Amino acid sequence: MDKFKIQGGAALQGTLPVSGAKNSALPALAASLLTEDEVLLTRIPQVKDIKTMEGLVEYTGAELKDDGGRVTIRAANLATPEAPYEIVKTMRASSLVLGPLVARTGRARVSMPGGCAIGARPINLHVLALEKLGATIEQSHGYVEAQAPNGLRGGAIHFDRITVTGTEDVLMAAVLARGETVITNAAREPEVADLAELLMKMGANIQGAGTSTIRVQGVERLHGAEHAIIPDRIEAGTFMLAAAITHGNVLITGCVTEHVAALTAKMRLAGAEVTEESPASLRVRCASRPLAVDMTTEEYPGFATDLQAQYMAWMTTARGISFITETIFENRFMHTQELARMGATIRIEGRQAIVAGESVLTGAQVIASDLRASASLVLAGLAAKGETAIDRVYHIDRGYENIEIKLAAAGALIERVK
Ligand code: EPU
Repeated sequence: MDKFKIQGGAALQGTLPVSGAKNSALPALAASLLTEDEVLLTRIPQVKDIKTMEGLVEYTGAELKDDGGRVTIRAANLATPEAPYEIVKTMRASSLVLGPLVARTGRARVSMPGGCAIGARPINLHVLALEKLGATIEQSHGYVEAQAPNGLRGGAIHFDRITVTGTEDVLMAAVLARGETVITNAAREPEVADLAELLMKMGANIQGAGTSTIRVQGVERLHGAEHAIIPDRIEAGTFMLAAAITHGNVLITGCVTEHVAALTAKMRLAGAEVTEESPASLRVRCASRPLAVDMTTEEYPGFATDLQAQYMAWMTTARGISFITETIFENRFMHTQELARMGATIRIEGRQAIVAGESVLTGAQVIASDLRASASLVLAGLAAKGETAIDRVYHIDRGYENIEIKLAAAGALIERVK
């Protein structure tokens, strides 16, 4: 199993380029199952979760070719409209194929995801929404089986709670349903809007994606299209915090500055200098310890839960005490134990972490527990005195493209040990 070795203390300098968004590429790959024509997706990040989704797309019967992030998919025949347990257990986002498969073939069989390191991850809201579109759904033997032999029909869907992949799943089903679908309390994440862009290029009729009410007029069939995935805002945010925690001066390129506005606002309050050099690039400078600034995770456009762990790593070095509240997932504080091994003082009270500042982080052997937790350990390692060894970096490989190569090019002393 690969490890990262990091010698802390080097201030990051230079440029950090951002890759395509994993969480946009995943639904885009699922959406390619909605047409028998060829779909060409570009800027697909070369990360493990994408390879898993590509494997799933092929498993259903589609042909797929990934030429270094330029992916062509042709789903002429979907002989196996199914997501087996073996695939779903390694990646919960596999449930994104439920909507497209039932819309396209009239049936789908998808393993139910179990819990994971960050929380329960149920898909009950996906199921309820698809039932509103006329699918008959049975759950047994750990699988969700959806049937709609005569096709789906439009309906009114109100999400009880905002769900990103739930919104995406039902949007992909609604585009081929007969009549109008109105989704309220929809997720407003940029990844939902990006998926709608792709679907519209494929011939779908969608209004309001990116807002909390989405209207879809179903069409009979979709056709092929070409689409470039949006930049990864979580990778961009991780790099912004890497620049700040190392007291560096870094230009982050190829991002959408608007997508990281909530982080930018917090970082400025804490004393970092964040300058928008263009709508697609940001310079982050931070010469000293930040001030402690409280933060609560929220759905977009609020502060992303996927940046909570990395922000906490930075706050362990702050002047003062910060209160970090996690509202999206119930168990997303696994990184605090490992940060504590590096010298941080953090107390957890329910959904809140109370982070004492001015920690002198020191290098230690730590274990990555999930994707974003691993990123926070990398940031802490970059700032710590001495050597940090991070075990189980396969977690980071699920969602960050060549992170150690990018960081090393900006001056970080980080290497992968096989
Ligand atoms: N929820 C339900 N029932 C459902 C669906 C969700 O109760 O049917 C609950 C969840 O348990 C959670 C909350 O609703 O407490 C929000 O979950 P959501 O469905 O929005 O999360 P997701 O769609 O499974 C996506 C990202 C996550 C990101 C969350 C929140 C993808 C592939 N995944 O997950 O990304 O944390 O939205 O923004 O888009 C990551 O990249 O590291 C990652 C975990």
